[in-house]
Amino acid sequence: MPNLQRLHADHAPAVLAFELANRAYFAASIPDRGDDYFSHFADRFSALLAEQESGLCAFHVLVADDGSVLGRFNLVDIEHCAAELGYRVAQHVTGRGVATATVLELCQLAAAQHGLRTIKAAVTHENTASQRVLAKAGFLPTGPANPGGKPGTWYQRHLLPPT
Ligand SMILES: CC(C)(COP(=O)(O)OP(=O)(O)OC[C@H]1O[C@@H](n2cnc3c(N)ncnc32)[C@H](O)[C@@H]1OP(=O)(O)O)[C@@H](O)C(=O)NCCC(=O)NCCS
Repeated sequence: MPNLQRLHADHAPAVLAFELANRAYFAASIPDRGDDYFSHFADRFSALLAEQESGLCAFHVLVADDGSVLGRFNLVDIEHCAAELGYRVAQHVTGRGVATATVLELCQLAAAQHGLRTIKAAVTHENTASQRVLAKAGFLPTGPANPGGKPGTWYQRHLLPPT
């Protein structure tokens, strides 16, 4: 059964494979990472882990039983008990509720492990699938956004403290 794991150094090869295999799929909805990202992947990955160490972000990967990465779910700009959410799911598992279930799990984890009380996410108007994910995970639209330079909407969800 897939499980959500905090990003660590051992994930590097599987994350690279995930990004390469789904590059064209992701680029249809969100800005492409660019050739430089792939040719300097090791450096970029190390920088990401260093950033995570600072506590300003928390990166997660959804890992299948065979070790492959099925999705990435990231909390960035963590401050004042709030953070911004970003995610991407491997094309071959889309349409099965993977993103929704994992965003819900991440919301629980964000409250319990990071003390977050608010999560927000920006989605373009044309990214209907992502809007559905956020709506199903209890996020509400709050105002205009401009993700990747395209017109969109901010969504926000308040989190309850863990019981
Ligand atoms: C957006 C994304 C994360 C969705 O992942 P997923 O695992 O397929 O999501 P879920 O299965 O949980 O839910 C998807 C919902 O969108 C709907 N959907 C998918 N494609 C759609 C489309 N073209 N138009 C309308 N609805 C669409 C699905 O029917 C489902 O809604 P439903 O449960 O009401 O039927 C995935 O497609 C992805 O990684 N896209 C590229 C990166 C991206 O856009 N990231 C988000 C940036 S804000």
